[in-house]
Amino acid sequence: MINRRTFIHISGATAAGTAAATSLPGAAQAAPARPAPGAAPGRAPSGSARAEAALTMARRVLLTDDKHTDLTLRYLRLLTGDARLPRKARRRVVVVGAGVAGLTCARLLTAAGHDVRVIEANSNRIGGRIKTFRGDVWQDPRLRAEAGAMRIPSTHVLTLALADSLRVARRPFHLLDVPPSPDLVSGDSRITYRSWTGETFATGTRAPYRATASQGSRFLHVNGQTVTKAEYLRDPRPINKSFGWDSATPASQAWAEALEKTRAYTRTRKADGSWGEKPIVERVEGMARLLDDLGDMSLHQYLTGVAGWDTAQIQAVGTLENLTSRLSYGLLHSAFGALDLNPSMTYFEFTGGTDTFTRALSRGLRIETGRVLTGVSRHGSGVTLHAAPETGPEDEAYQGGTGPSRYTYEADAVVLAVPFAALRHVTFDPILPYGKRRAVIELHHDTAHKVLVEFTRRWWEWDEDTWKAELGSAYRPAPHGPAVPAVGGGCVSDEACRFVYFPSHPSDDGAPGGVVLAAYNWAGDALRFDALTPQDRRTEALDHLASLYGDRIRRYATDRCVSQSWLRNRWALGEAVIETPGQLLSLGPHVAAPVDDVLYFAGDHCQPRYHAWIAGAIASGTEAALQVTDAP
Ligand code: ARG
Repeated sequence: MINRRTFIHISGATAAGTAAATSLPGAAQAAPARPAPGAAPGRAPSGSARAEAALTMARRVLLTDDKHTDLTLRYLRLLTGDARLPRKARRRVVVVGAGVAGLTCARLLTAAGHDVRVIEANSNRIGGRIKTFRGDVWQDPRLRAEAGAMRIPSTHVLTLALADSLRVARRPFHLLDVPPSPDLVSGDSRITYRSWTGETFATGTRAPYRATASQGSRFLHVNGQTVTKAEYLRDPRPINKSFGWDSATPASQAWAEALEKTRAYTRTRKADGSWGEKPIVERVEGMARLLDDLGDMSLHQYLTGVAGWDTAQIQAVGTLENLTSRLSYGLLHSAFGALDLNPSMTYFEFTGGTDTFTRALSRGLRIETGRVLTGVSRHGSGVTLHAAPETGPEDEAYQGGTGPSRYTYEADAVVLAVPFAALRHVTFDPILPYGKRRAVIELHHDTAHKVLVEFTRRWWEWDEDTWKAELGSAYRPAPHGPAVPAVGGGCVSDEACRFVYFPSHPSDDGAPGGVVLAAYNWAGDALRFDALTPQDRRTEALDHLASLYGDRIRRYATDRCVSQSWLRNRWALGEAVIETPGQLLSLGPHVAAPVDDVLYFAGDHCQPRYHAWIAGAIASGTEAALQVTDAP
């Protein structure tokens, strides 16, 4: 069923010519291929450990189990209070880490009557990689901006339903720029999840959200040329050619088409050309085959060997679609990620800042902050945790450190809801099982870096006449055509500031200014910023914005520029797990597995479909809560 040779069939089809890479029906036929006779011996016959791993991980990716239960549906019911955890003997549970996974888990266990406490390393905040810069970080304390999670795809029903049930307000987040008019739809629009069981789950009360059409006014700035996204879509050739890629296909379309071979494992093409999900049994089988066939492949290997791209195309699409820094990582992260981040997806943000969500989630929980986990000792009657007081700042700290371990906690069960990169610094007695240890040691944690610049006025909402009125005799035209008033959306650049994002809304509380995400970089692109000083980050980000929008924007920049390196955060130690080729199957099955019905694991790293998303943290926190209560 799962056979290594399927891949050989796919690449064989593609090798026939690049045309095959873009011929869609070919792609659709490729995936369900029978093993090609005479193909090289398969690495692993089915029934082998590898096939087992592929099946385990396929179920995890699809949020299902060996009975094809729809776990998304089960989690939704638990999270929104429609269902309860099974009543079992009361356990003393310590949850380590007050990020979304830990808080979700603690909430469910507390509601089920367990004795739950949460310990959190940070002494001054909870939330983990949800972190809102607010207050006197800014010159205008009414402003705020997100250091971490900032957008929620409308398909992430776990996140949106949990937020709705906690009465956390949401509103549209505009991935693409729109005119600065009030949102036509309320944030509380209806989100419906349709299960393969035939059941549906809906949250939100208003009409479903349809995004306002983008005006495409944001810039692409590559190879010394600057064009708007609308110009690029009208004629992609000049920009594509500037990379040596002679193509009239927009980069986003080329990327989507390249991934069709991965989609064909779990979907079928309908008559109208759109994709439909296969029935769940086939979907699990297809996903297992996909993981087996392509789980060892890097994005680069896939683009060259399967999609048939040449160097010029990889550089062009890689630059425009944010693939370049991830080429050496496992393909599947980028394949799953493209389902969440693409131009046809709509998004929400939490109206009062993303941390309104974690605050609501933490309400009523027993949380001790400033407690750094240092040791986990298991003994006959349970677990003793050792913790030390936190000293020094969470970010880019050069001084201070973790003090002596003077706190202990006794528990029947412990949920470790912190990144594995953080567990690397914890002593386990006895040591963790081999597979778990390898995962803690090896799992690749990626990095992301955000540079946020404050402005006293929201100049991005202005047209050229407003600029004239504001600047008077100091008026100078913009370098790349007249200003187009817009909120949301962002620019793509091959400069150090790879992606720029503008706020989706005018500030609340009547503040005249706003904060621009002047650089949002991943992986190697993020490292380029990590090494700079805060001042150099600001200079570079502002220079870059000025090169796009003119020096005239400088007069509105305040001296406040805040940056977030997730790699240099002492408690996150990275942005999120992104497997390198092979890790999904070699380490994946060990990541979330509980140890001896005593140690449980949660965090977005435990949910392979949703690494780097709130939904992954919620799913894993819910799963851990179920495991704690299901224990014999
Ligand atoms: N949820 C994140 C976002 O919306 C995705 C981050 C993916 N990170 C990465 N290094 N590929 O931006």
